[in-house]
Amino acid sequence: MAPIATAAPAEALVADVKKLALVDAAPLPPAPAPASIPAGKWFSETGLPESEYPYAHLLPTWDQETKYVPLGEFTHVDPGHKAKADADPRSFLAGGAVDDLSPKFGSEVTGVQLSALDTHAREQLALYVAERGVVVFRDQDFIDQDPRWQVDNWGAFFGRNHIHPTSGQPKGAPELHLVYRAPDSPYNFPFKQKLNSKGWHSDVSYEAQPPGLTALFLYDSPPSGGDTLYLDQREAYNRLSPSFAAYLETLQVVHSGFEQAAYARSGERGPERTVRREPVKNTHPLVRRHPVTGEKALYVTRVFSRSIVGLKQEESDAILNLLYDHIENGIDFQIRARWKPRTVVLWDNRTTAHTAIADFDSTPAKRHGARITPQAERPFL
Ligand code: SIN
Repeated sequence: MAPIATAAPAEALVADVKKLALVDAAPLPPAPAPASIPAGKWFSETGLPESEYPYAHLLPTWDQETKYVPLGEFTHVDPGHKAKADADPRSFLAGGAVDDLSPKFGSEVTGVQLSALDTHAREQLALYVAERGVVVFRDQDFIDQDPRWQVDNWGAFFGRNHIHPTSGQPKGAPELHLVYRAPDSPYNFPFKQKLNSKGWHSDVSYEAQPPGLTALFLYDSPPSGGDTLYLDQREAYNRLSPSFAAYLETLQVVHSGFEQAAYARSGERGPERTVRREPVKNTHPLVRRHPVTGEKALYVTRVFSRSIVGLKQEESDAILNLLYDHIENGIDFQIRARWKPRTVVLWDNRTTAHTAIADFDSTPAKRHGARITPQAERPFL
């Protein structure tokens, strides 16, 4: 019989909190990049054969045996709260350089090593990411740290690590959600069926407690292309007329993981057809409030939102389609994160949405990376 694994029940969070002592007790030595990859280059630029790919042990696998029981509730207290009392809540950036990607949304940081941040600095980081929405950290040794450290030490600090129900995982670290797209892969280029790869979403918003501070980093990528677009759902909310915004604040939206599971089961996503945990639907406020900053944000995306509770279908469709068009066309509250080797992008999944761009079909390179997706509180207004 297939083993049944529970994905981190509430008690596990207590254990995770105890692990936080490790953050301060054991600062990590810098993790060196694989010697076969010159500084500032992707593996795809080395000309080496795939057989020498140093991240081959982190390629996606689909364990057909393990099934997960439904996720239980847990209490999330966001680490960003504590930093609000600091005289200078951005002191962790001292010694680094910040380049804002737009005035209100998105920043790029150099000269700060995420793996070296202690508890206090991580609390400041949580607040900073909540404020900026998306932060791109360059020249990180993070990607070469032990995947178990990435999950147990980093991810668990920011919430309960989510295990994705359908995506590829590396062996030994199922909490890493792998992104993988390559010319020879079935997980490929959506524009073979669609005109473009646009797929705005907030990660796994169908969960009762969707993610908060989320991290993504790439092991390999084409030299250009494969950027990630982000949009600011706070500014999208702020742009609405007050009376319309006030009405939206009365509404609840159903988010569904059923279509994602059906897609996996259909075999269209890939031959594995893996669904490790049965899909769920959850209802969340259409406008949610950030627990630390108190800011309001829209919480709808075309990928996972389905209907507005209590409205007739045409009414619900009209409002949701208006909002999808608003956020997807809102170029003055969107930014584009360009991937470079050893970059880590952090975003607050509560107040942002994102989409990968699959524009590198003319290159032979793969795009391979990992996401750490700690779950946070149940959305509220
Ligand atoms: C994601 O959807 O979380 C991954 C985005 C990306 O691959 O750029």
